[in-house]
Amino acid sequence: MGTDKETQSRSNDIMEKSTYTIRPCCLEDLEGVINVNEKELPEDYPYFFYKSILDSFPESFLVAINEDGHIIGYIMWRVERLPALNSLNLIRKGHLVSIAVSKDYRRKGIAWELLVKSMPEIRRRKISEYVLEVRVSNYGAINLYKRLGYKIDSIKKKYYRDGENAYFMIKTVNNPL
Ligand code: ACO
Ligand code: ZN
Repeated sequence: MGTDKETQSRSNDIMEKSTYTIRPCCLEDLEGVINVNEKELPEDYPYFFYKSILDSFPESFLVAINEDGHIIGYIMWRVERLPALNSLNLIRKGHLVSIAVSKDYRRKGIAWELLVKSMPEIRRRKISEYVLEVRVSNYGAINLYKRLGYKIDSIKKKYYRDGENAYFMIKTVNNPL
C-alpha cells in the first residue's frame, strides 16, 4: 500500500543495492552463504562442510554483502596435497571449492573481486597451482576463469550427479612462495 514517498524510497533501495562490500566470512555468515549456494548452484553441501572449510581456510573464505548486510555472494577454497607426476613428492594445489553470486547482483564484478581478493590468500599456503571444476555448459563461469588466466586442462566425465561433464581448469602459480 504505497504512498508516493514509500514508492520513491523503495526504488532508491533498489538502486542502492548495486553497492556491496567484500570481507572475510565469519561463523554467523554461514547461514547466508548456504542460502546463496542453495539458490544458485545444484551442488549443495552439509553445514559441517562449510564449517570445516571456514575453520581450516578462513582467510580465503570471503563473502559479498549488500547495503542491508545480506550475503549476496561467497567464495571458498581449500588446499589439497596430491602426488606429483613421477615422484613421491606431494604438491599442494589451491582448489576452488565453490563461488556464487545472487542473480540480482550479477555482472557487477563481484565474482571477479571475490577471486582476485581470495587467490593471494590461498596462494600463501605454498600452492603451485589453482585448480577448479566447472560444468562444461557453464559458459559464464568458464569465461570468467579464462579471463583470469585459467586454462582447460582436461575433462572429468560425468563429474556431476546429473551426469554432466566438468572441465578441470588450472592456473599455474608463477612464482610459488
Ligand atoms: N556470460 C559471459 N561472461 C561472463 C558471465 C556470463 N554470464 N558472467 C561473468 N562473465 C565474465 C565476463 O567477462 C565478466 O566481465 P564483464 O561483465 O565486464 O563482461 C567477468 O566474467 C566478471 O564477471 P562478474 O560480474 O565478476 O561475475 P558475477 O559476479 O556475475 O558472477 C558467477 C559470475 C559466479 C559465475 C555467477 O554467474 C554465478 O553465481 N553463477 C551461478 C553459480 C556458478 O555457476 N558458480 C560457478 C560454479 S564452478 C565453481 O564453483 C568452482
Ligand atoms: Zn572441485
